[in-house]
Amino acid sequence: MNVPQTPGSRLDAYIDRYAARARAMTASEIRALFAVASRPEVVSLAGGMPYIPALPLDAVSSVVEKLVSERGAVALQYGSGQGAETLREQICQVMALEGIDAHPDDVVVTVGSQQALDLVTRIFIDPGDVIIAEAPSYVGALSTFASYQAEVVHVEMDDDGIIPEHLRNAIAAVEASGRRAKFFYTIPNFHNPAGVSLSVERRQEVLEICQRAGVLMLEDNPYGLLGFDGSPVRAMRADDADGVIYLGSFSKTFAPGFRVGWAVAPHAVREKLVLAAEASVLCPPNFSQLAVSTYLATQPWQEQVKVFRELYRERRDAMLASLEDLMPPETVWTRPRGGFYVWLTLPAGLDSKAMLPRAVTARVAYVPGTAFFADGFGSSSLRLSYCYPTPDRIREGVRRFAGVLEQELELRSTFGTGSGPEALGHHVDAPSPDLA
Ligand SMILES: Cc1ncc(COP(=O)(O)O)c(C=O)c1O
Repeated sequence: MNVPQTPGSRLDAYIDRYAARARAMTASEIRALFAVASRPEVVSLAGGMPYIPALPLDAVSSVVEKLVSERGAVALQYGSGQGAETLREQICQVMALEGIDAHPDDVVVTVGSQQALDLVTRIFIDPGDVIIAEAPSYVGALSTFASYQAEVVHVEMDDDGIIPEHLRNAIAAVEASGRRAKFFYTIPNFHNPAGVSLSVERRQEVLEICQRAGVLMLEDNPYGLLGFDGSPVRAMRADDADGVIYLGSFSKTFAPGFRVGWAVAPHAVREKLVLAAEASVLCPPNFSQLAVSTYLATQPWQEQVKVFRELYRERRDAMLASLEDLMPPETVWTRPRGGFYVWLTLPAGLDSKAMLPRAVTARVAYVPGTAFFADGFGSSSLRLSYCYPTPDRIREGVRRFAGVLEQELELRSTFGTGSGPEALGHHVDAPSPDLA
């Protein structure tokens, strides 16, 4: 075997050869625990996986079968770097539900919205550039930002989403340090992981703050159609076509297995995105795009989204009722009105990361809050997902979780508050994709 001549290490002979950007790409210690957490006896309140068994799999199967038999020569061929035109037209119709009036030319189809996050970061970020993001923020975005060596500045949220005053101050503080925030990354609807939404009243103010400061907004909206009350909220992109890049996805309204998402960007940015996409994957998979396109054209997809909404609403209700019944005093949590997640903050002195091995031993899993911060904060909080387990399993999971908390509180009263250091250095705690 050809072993490199440099020192390296016994585990990785190439340890001293990686690019600087690869140093931020480390598997977190919680990854190993999640391998255990995926065992059937564990109630996983950790994963953000859509409940695919609720899809009409027979209908999807006939869409795919027909696609191969009738249009296989196109579906199995390379396609355009920007994505299939018919699908881009359909994407515009989907976005019209949120008030967006876009042209198919403005749309770039991507390999999930995760690839769109990667492409946007690739074309805007040099090492050390600043990205403003909510506190907490989506773990997959933080991993991407870390891989391009961005500095993430977190801005506090409350039950109505990002606090405009804090956003203004954060932008000013970055400017005062002689730099400029390259973009503001936000998940305005049914936030992952916080479970809150940006209030309608705040949207205009947040837009104006970014416009005035010349900070591009990256509006990431995979859950917008999964609200439990009323119609979808108007996207910020609907009110600012030049200052906002909008990201969408079929992962939560249809199926993540197809890996079809998209970005809508101002014209010049869109051109760069397509060039970056071509350099990365040549083109998004034609097969997936045509399957999604045929599904949208031939199946009652909006009815299916309604089915998902009702299913997730029932699970949200089961989780909130169980938390209400079983959580000890001083525990607080958000009450999502859509999407997949509840953000829970523990009584003082408890550390969600330190507690996780004991929770997994008690056969329940969650994601510690530290995964959702670029700077090691978040140990007093955690994310609970209600999207995948049935209501009964959710109730059982919360019961087990409450048992773990009870033991932790006993320890706290015997030994005082745990160590739970907040600042743990710059490390992104990225769990595996099924936890995203
Ligand atoms: C906020 C957010 N953005 C982006 C993604 C990526 O989704 P996908 O690449 O499947 O479209 C996710 C997935 O969970 C998410 O929660």
